[in-house]
Amino acid sequence: MNNKNSLQILGKNFSLQPNALIVKGKPTEAAYEEAFKLLSRIETAQGWWWGDLANAREKSYGSLKVLAEKYGKRMGSIAECQRVSKAYEVSMRIESLSFNHHQIAAALPDRMTWLRRAEKEGWTTAELAKQIRLAGILPPHFESFEPEIVKADCLAWIPKQDICDLLLTDPPYSTEISDIEAFAASWLPPALKKVKPTGRAYVFIGAYPIEIEAYLKINTNTMTLANVLVWAYQNTLGPSSDLDYNLNWQAVLYYRGPEAPKLDCPILIEQFSVQNVNAPDGRSGVRYSAWQKPDDLAERFIRHSTKPGDLVLDPF
Ligand SMILES: C[S@@+](CC[C@H](N)C(=O)[O-])C[C@H]1O[C@@H](n2cnc3c(N)ncnc32)[C@H](O)[C@@H]1O
Repeated sequence: MNNKNSLQILGKNFSLQPNALIVKGKPTEAAYEEAFKLLSRIETAQGWWWGDLANAREKSYGSLKVLAEKYGKRMGSIAECQRVSKAYEVSMRIESLSFNHHQIAAALPDRMTWLRRAEKEGWTTAELAKQIRLAGILPPHFESFEPEIVKADCLAWIPKQDICDLLLTDPPYSTEISDIEAFAASWLPPALKKVKPTGRAYVFIGAYPIEIEAYLKINTNTMTLANVLVWAYQNTLGPSSDLDYNLNWQAVLYYRGPEAPKLDCPILIEQFSVQNVNAPDGRSGVRYSAWQKPDDLAERFIRHSTKPGDLVLDPF
């Protein structure tokens, strides 16, 4: 090892450095294959590493949230790794299966039986999820962990969707739509019809009176508009005005189905109609657009109103 920070764990021909993989000499084809296999293992091991790190720190110093914010990591992903790590003592983890295999079965009481079957049959993660689904234990969309993203007009897309547990969405604002009243009336009722009676919906609608008025007029069928939540932020401002007040909040319409269970929400920390969360401003994480919503807020709403395996729809 000539560099103090380099790792020689992929064999003698490869050296891993913090910002590069250096190839030494002329590795054989077999050496490349071995390095590929080892790299894949490291990639899958990362889930365990993040989960174990967060669980261990939590015992002494509390959540990793502050560090995640400081270094631009998504707390949602780390929290998911924590959930999986907690579900399996180190001695229970099956080395020949990936972290994702363990993740798929993590919530099941007989998770080890499923994992042993996956190991014996050589199931991929998709096959494991399919078998669990066929056994009728989890809902149909459980097999897809990556969100499915489709480019389509919402009015064409919504009718084709399955009934969901949560509708969480951020439609275009009145500044982009000529007739916001007609637009709101065209998409919201069919979208709410896609939510199960046990489900919930959160719709970000900005803070302009014209928009709030348009959405409040809509007949929401069996879903109850239970709160107009406020997302407030102190770290950035929209366009400023000499005549009026500058906006540092947005309304989030919160609908509840007639059979919705209790919110899964820490009462004294998060169960408030005003949610104070910094707006993405590029200092931590990536800022893709001016009115981007914070991942932390979306994660909170998803955590409050779904359980593992639930289906979330977002038409925008
Ligand atoms: C407020 S943005 C939300 C962006 C998105 N959720 C994100 O995380 O970046 C609204 C989005 O709706 C899209 N949009 C506008 N009209 C639409 C329509 N009729 N059907 C589907 N999407 C539409 C816009 O292109 C825009 O990307």
